[in-house]
Amino acid sequence: MEKLALQYQGKAKKLYATEDPNVLWVEYLNQATALNGLKKDEIKGKGILNNAITSLIFQELSAAGIASHFIEKISESEQLVQKVTIVPLEVVVRNYAAGSFTKRLGLAEGTKLAQPIVEFYYKNDDLADPLINDDTVLALNLATATEIATIKDAARQVNEVLIALFHHLKIRLIDFKIEFGRDTTGAILLADEISPDTCRLWDETTNEHLDKDIYRRDLGELVPVYQEVLRRLENNQEEKTCIL
Ligand code: TMP
Repeated sequence: MEKLALQYQGKAKKLYATEDPNVLWVEYLNQATALNGLKKDEIKGKGILNNAITSLIFQELSAAGIASHFIEKISESEQLVQKVTIVPLEVVVRNYAAGSFTKRLGLAEGTKLAQPIVEFYYKNDDLADPLINDDTVLALNLATATEIATIKDAARQVNEVLIALFHHLKIRLIDFKIEFGRDTTGAILLADEISPDTCRLWDETTNEHLDKDIYRRDLGELVPVYQEVLRRLENNQEEKTCIL
């Protein structure tokens, strides 16, 4: 497979065409951003870590029967994915109150929610990704009612798999953001990445943050924390290989 023209440059990734029109070449970057791009830094090693972590997580999801755009990791910082048209929604799933949810509702960070919540944010940098409801998704033609149902159902399934996976690693899954796309047949597929950039992960024993809040809130060095998440995921893989 060959890397062809740059198709899209995001905050954390570059997407390139390949000779297969249905396959994109993803390069994970070292750039970290927060506060809708107001805070920006180059963090050496971050791209490699997020590529490794996302690849392992998408493999776990695939093993659990959840389809995604992920094809394979092809180098330390690159992977191949199926080309999809991204649905312009940031789909956030919350198990515990944190971040913008605590600010909006006045809850203490870490409060366990009686049930998981799925929220939609409109992907629009100029508007700083506003929270919207299902009616708004329909009224703006962002997705159909059937697609909304598929996306919510998939988001809840991803949540169940990730809660169990991270619990095995002694990590509490507080919340996370995922994105979906439509493939050439119009089918909805999980896309983008799942990494400590897009999840809130707390150590079950110490409540330490093992995610991008380290960077957002200036709590310390990001790389050792992401390395710790990768270390636990890789140990889990090794355990499974030994059992097999
Ligand atoms: P929030 O509490 O700031 O709304 O974030 C909820 C979750 O979504 C958290 O795990 C971080 C993730 N997230 C992203 O991945 N990208 C974003 O642009 C935002 C706002 C949140």
